[in-house]
Amino acid sequence: MLKIAPSILSADFSKLGDEIKDVEKDVDYIHVDVMDGHFVPNITIGPLIVESIRPITQLPLDVHLMIENPEQYVPAFAKAGADIISVHQEATPHLHRVIQQIKNEGVKPGVVINPATPVESIMPILGDVDLVLVMTVNPGFGGQSFIESTLSKIKQLKELKQQYNYHYEIEVDGGVKPETAKACVDAGAEVLVAGSAIFNHSNRQEAINAIKDSID
Ligand code: DX5
Ligand code: ZN
Repeated sequence: MLKIAPSILSADFSKLGDEIKDVEKDVDYIHVDVMDGHFVPNITIGPLIVESIRPITQLPLDVHLMIENPEQYVPAFAKAGADIISVHQEATPHLHRVIQQIKNEGVKPGVVINPATPVESIMPILGDVDLVLVMTVNPGFGGQSFIESTLSKIKQLKELKQQYNYHYEIEVDGGVKPETAKACVDAGAEVLVAGSAIFNHSNRQEAINAIKDSID
């Protein structure tokens, strides 16, 4: 069953609670984009915001860390109420250690790869993660164009999952909208992150349905 994860990066931050309430009944996760101005050229939110939205919704908080030194901040995001914490392969030389650290905090670990990062680079830890996030844009900003060459990595991850009976979900993030969602799902994506395609529309339910309908 396809899952939808709205990215609050494109929401109106002056009324974040209302924005989450506006989408939550039609979706599966709330995707939270954490950027530090170092790993990516943008600064967004930290554990305080995660803590403040935690009581707003029952949905799992899917926290995407686009930060250097993720190991330094995992405990704070876990304490703030993250259900899934995903770290970039490119952000740490100690990927295996960070994934164990996330698990030890009682949170589901995910791993993320940028468009130029091959699946081979995360093969040794694929059995340890609950989520593999394939970036379909270069991380940093909402509203960018989908990069088609990432589709083959989604396919590769689906094949590896079947071959080795791995349990991870395959998530895609960036440029996902009705025009691009079907190609992702056909390739093997199980969770679609969408920011601008949902929050830039006044009728969020229609926007979410447009993505779901595009798959059928
Ligand atoms: C990009 C973020 C995405 C972003 C997606 O760096 O990780 O989650 O919000 O935005 P859209 O759906 O507008 O491409
Ligand atoms: Zn994201």
